[in-house]
Amino acid sequence: MATAEKKRPRSSSGGAEKRPSRKESGHGNQLPLLTRKYIQNLLKVNMEGPYGPEWPSEEKVKRREMVAPEARYIFVRQSSNAITTNNIMKQDSGLELTHEACTEDRLIGFVHYRFVLEEDVPVVYVYELQMEPSAQGKGLGNFLMELIELIACKSQMGAVMLTVQKANNLAMAFYKKLRYVISSTSPSRVDPLIGLEKNYEILCKAFESEAKSRLEEGN
Ligand SMILES: CC(C)(COP(=O)(O)OP(=O)(O)OC[C@H]1O[C@@H](n2cnc3c(N)ncnc32)[C@H](O)[C@@H]1OP(=O)(O)O)[C@@H](O)C(=O)NCCC(=O)NCCS
Repeated sequence: MATAEKKRPRSSSGGAEKRPSRKESGHGNQLPLLTRKYIQNLLKVNMEGPYGPEWPSEEKVKRREMVAPEARYIFVRQSSNAITTNNIMKQDSGLELTHEACTEDRLIGFVHYRFVLEEDVPVVYVYELQMEPSAQGKGLGNFLMELIELIACKSQMGAVMLTVQKANNLAMAFYKKLRYVISSTSPSRVDPLIGLEKNYEILCKAFESEAKSRLEEGN
């Protein structure tokens, strides 16, 4: 994720339509084991295809990145009120059926972002944006990116940046629709020949003139 030789930035400073979904946040070094396992599984389900033969090495990199203290997360959970039915043997009258309301709460996606410097411009870098297949296409990815842009603006960051595999056509179309452009730091713009060798592009959306000049126009 950044210039032709570095996929990730160098320095860091720092629901479903009918059912309600809620958001949570946290840092990479505070993730519970079950959440780490969830992230690993979802990354494999969603990203093994786009990465192809590079996946085993990329998976290792992603596992390290996942738990870094500078990794920040917003999680999406889906809540659903379910009624469970239990059979209870009563002393006097035999079998009784009871109905209990229970609230199921499960993760359905997340965004991993960091505050970093790109070309000396402070930016929010989106390391991962992942929705479970069953939760895709329902507006949640869009909503998470809106939150990220809000965080970037409120924190006076110049831009939001991210890396997309060229083979990930859906993600490319998704970000294009959100008006992200290929950054001047992306390999294909640094040097078209190097760009041909690389299987990813770096995208950005700048919020102020300095960031626009350095990260979009390459001045
Ligand atoms: C890419 C991803 C994050 C988008 O999130 P999402 O919740 O599915 O997307 P949204 O529902 O918010 O869609 C927003 C727009 O993107 C487009 N889009 C999203 N998913 C699409 C799909 N499966 N097919 C076609 N267009 C799609 C739509 O044009 C949609 O616009 P619309 O609301 O006008 O129809 C999600 O699909 C995902 O997790 N994919 C797998 C992991 C991945 O590739 N992550 C990105 C790595 S860089």
